[in-house]
Amino acid sequence: MDHISLQKVDESNFLACFALKLNAWQEDFVSHPIRSLAQAYVYSRQCTPFAVCCNGDVVGYLMVIYDYDEKTYNIWHLMIDARHQGRGCGKAAMALAMNYIRTKPFGPSDRVLLTVNPENSIAYHLYQALGFTETGRSDEDEVELGFALG
Ligand SMILES: CC(C)(COP(=O)(O)OP(=O)(O)OC[C@H]1O[C@@H](n2cnc3c(N)ncnc32)[C@H](O)[C@@H]1OP(=O)(O)O)[C@@H](O)C(=O)NCCC(=O)NCCS
Repeated sequence: MDHISLQKVDESNFLACFALKLNAWQEDFVSHPIRSLAQAYVYSRQCTPFAVCCNGDVVGYLMVIYDYDEKTYNIWHLMIDARHQGRGCGKAAMALAMNYIRTKPFGPSDRVLLTVNPENSIAYHLYQALGFTETGRSDEDEVELGFALG
C-alpha cells in the first residue's frame, strides 16, 4: 500500500516540486508550484508549502496559508503530478493537510476555506467527499468551499 506524507518544502525537495506536471487541460485550474513558492516567499509569516510524497517520492504539492484578519486557514494550489493521479494521493494529502491545520500552526480558527473551478469535477468531488460545502461566495472562475473545524 502506498504511504502518503506531507514534507515541508525545503532544499531537499524544491526542485522535485518544480518538476511536477499536470495534463494540459488541468493547467488553468491551479498555479504551478514555481509560482506558488514565489507567493510562499512573500507570505512566509503565514503559510507552509508542502511537497506531497508517495513512498518517499515527490508526487504533488499544496500550500496551507493563514489569514490573520479573517482567522481562517486556506488550502491553495493542491496538485498531483499527472502520472500519479487517481491512486489516492490527492485525497490522502488533503486529509493530512486538514490534520496539520487542526494543530492551528499560525493561530486560532474555526474554518478552512478553499476555492475550486466548478468545471473541475474531480477536485470538486474530492473536496465534497471530505466534507467541504459551498459558502455562497464566488468570483468569475471559482466557487469558495468551507469546512467547519470542531
Ligand atoms: C484534483 C487532484 C489533486 C486529485 O488528486 P488525485 O490524487 O488524482 O485524486 P485521488 O486519487 O485521491 O481521488 C480523489 C477522488 O477523485 C476521484 N478521481 C480521481 N481521478 C479521477 C478521474 N480521472 N475521473 C473520475 N474520478 C476521479 C477518485 O475516484 C476519488 O473519489 P472517491 O474518494 O469517491 O473514490 C488532481 O486530479 C489534480 O492535480 N488535478 C489538477 C490540479 C487541480 O485541479 N487541483 C485542484 C485545484 S482546486
